[in-house]
Amino acid sequence: MSLNPPIRNWRGRRVWVVGASSGIGAAVAKLLLGAGARVALSARSAPSLEALASGFSGDNTLCLPLDATRPEALLRGMEDIRGHWGGLDLAIFCAGTYAPMRAWQLDGEKARAMVETNFMSVVHGVQAVIPGFLAQGSGGIVIISSVAGYRGLPNGLVYGSTKAALINLAENLYLDLAPKGIGVFLVNPGFVKTPLTDKNTFRMPALIGADEAATRIVSGIERGRFEIHFPRRFTALLKLARLLPYALYFRLARAATGL
Ligand SMILES: NC(=O)c1ccc[n+]([C@@H]2O[C@H](COP(=O)([O-])OP(=O)(O)OC[C@H]3O[C@@H](n4cnc5c(N)ncnc54)[C@H](OP(=O)(O)O)[C@@H]3O)[C@@H](O)[C@H]2O)c1
Repeated sequence: MSLNPPIRNWRGRRVWVVGASSGIGAAVAKLLLGAGARVALSARSAPSLEALASGFSGDNTLCLPLDATRPEALLRGMEDIRGHWGGLDLAIFCAGTYAPMRAWQLDGEKARAMVETNFMSVVHGVQAVIPGFLAQGSGGIVIISSVAGYRGLPNGLVYGSTKAALINLAENLYLDLAPKGIGVFLVNPGFVKTPLTDKNTFRMPALIGADEAATRIVSGIERGRFEIHFPRRFTALLKLARLLPYALYFRLARAATGL
């Protein structure tokens, strides 16, 4: 069911991908550039953004290297986009970091880095784009969360909390912004092979490639979905697990992960 205005044609659309230097963000940016969109690319690594942009027409790319944990950098990025393209149609917030942690490894600095990068960067990014979207009465916000936000999972300490917070943030944003013509898209991927998951030492069930993830995300946006989750063979099980009472869920989570 379409909860957001569907997007049928990417030609000339002005898109900002924050977290575009690798993994899912880079794959989404390439897919949209290939479909004719104009894409502003942000992340800290300028050389990676330049390398991605070099494969496409200079008219359609804008490299805006920035640290998304800094609110003023995101405000400046939005100003740059407005200066070059007159405005923005879609913002995709993809910046993320992950440090696997069990309770006895809890590290305040790593936890803060995950909260700042995964959650606060999205809050500041949304704050930067909302005034323009409200003024034009259109626009879309895409938030990359994770199935790790559905329920507590071993190794997901704090990372899962940031993703649960993003799910709640997206729901709140949708309630406020949909009546004003602004789309809000919540993306909950399962395991995707990227530099972020390359550090996992366990077998990742239903692992997919970044290009497949990008295809799912873009197709979900085109259809106007609120929640875009994939791969379904994995996310369907996790959605079911969300409904279980705690006693049963904790037993199953331990048995499934062996942790
Ligand atoms: N891979 C998975 O299985 C999976 C599953 C569910 C959800 N996700 C989520 O998907 C998103 C993308 O992750 P990925 O798997 O594609 O990992 P990735 O390849 O490591 O990409 C992370 C991106 O975030 C950027 N980033 C990190 N810190 C930043 C900062 N302070 N400012 C600006 N950009 C920053 C990185 O660029 P720089 O380092 O150049 O700044 C990079 O472009 C994350 O939010 C992640 O939590 C991933």
